[in-house]
Amino acid sequence: MYSHNKQTRVYTQGRPLKSHEQKMIELLKSELSQDSKEKLLDIGCSDGMFLRHLRSEFASLDLWGLELDDKFIQQGKAQNDQAGVQIMQGDASSVDSSTKYDVILASGILSVFDEPFPILEGWLNCLASNGILIVFGYFNERDLDTRIHYRNHFDDHGWETGLTAYSQKAYQKYFGEKGQVSVDFIPFVPDFDIQEDENPIRSYTVQTKSGKRLIVIGGHIICNMGYMILRKQN
Ligand SMILES: C[S@@+](CC[C@H](N)C(=O)[O-])C[C@H]1O[C@@H](n2cnc3c(N)ncnc32)[C@H](O)[C@@H]1O
Repeated sequence: MYSHNKQTRVYTQGRPLKSHEQKMIELLKSELSQDSKEKLLDIGCSDGMFLRHLRSEFASLDLWGLELDDKFIQQGKAQNDQAGVQIMQGDASSVDSSTKYDVILASGILSVFDEPFPILEGWLNCLASNGILIVFGYFNERDLDTRIHYRNHFDDHGWETGLTAYSQKAYQKYFGEKGQVSVDFIPFVPDFDIQEDENPIRSYTVQTKSGKRLIVIGGHIICNMGYMILRKQN
């Protein structure tokens, strides 16, 4: 299963929550009570920054993260210990399914894999009965799957993945045929402009004449971003 993505320099600095992360918190608030004690896993959690924000909203949640890069784990360790957030080192393509989570989040990571279905199957195996998996990423509203390999000359790690975008219908078809998992999509469109950055891998927005805001990724690709909500129905 091909994946190679090293464009992580933007995740290494402390920063305020981005609007898609704020919306993720709103989604979680509609799912969980403030004193919920459920077990939550954030896959590709970087240094745990989002989990620490979750701690300030949900004092009793059992918060776990999974991250490939030990540099991030070490970077967030002291703050995570203080917040009661535990980060495991591991690969998102082979998550240990002996532990079950009530909620799994995966933001900005599914697109790293050329073939998303085995990855999602692995994550669903880690989900408790009636659990919920929320994936933030690229989901094409038109019925076309894309696998894009790019090379970023601003921060060169050779040819990389990270812009895979399968169609929403492809996911609906796959899980519809499989059964036991419901699929919903919630679109994400920022309510403010994002300027182009000198690093061409950073997303930005453009506006159509009618004022509709579009997200541009990978320097030149207009794409649909949003949340895919998978619920295990047993
Ligand atoms: C694009 S960043 C997203 C970070 C954060 N979830 C967010 O939404 O801002 C992807 C994160 O996943 C990690 N990552 C990349 N490939 C991974 C893999 N195969 N297994 C686990 N983590 C991975 C990266 O090190 C990075 O921290």
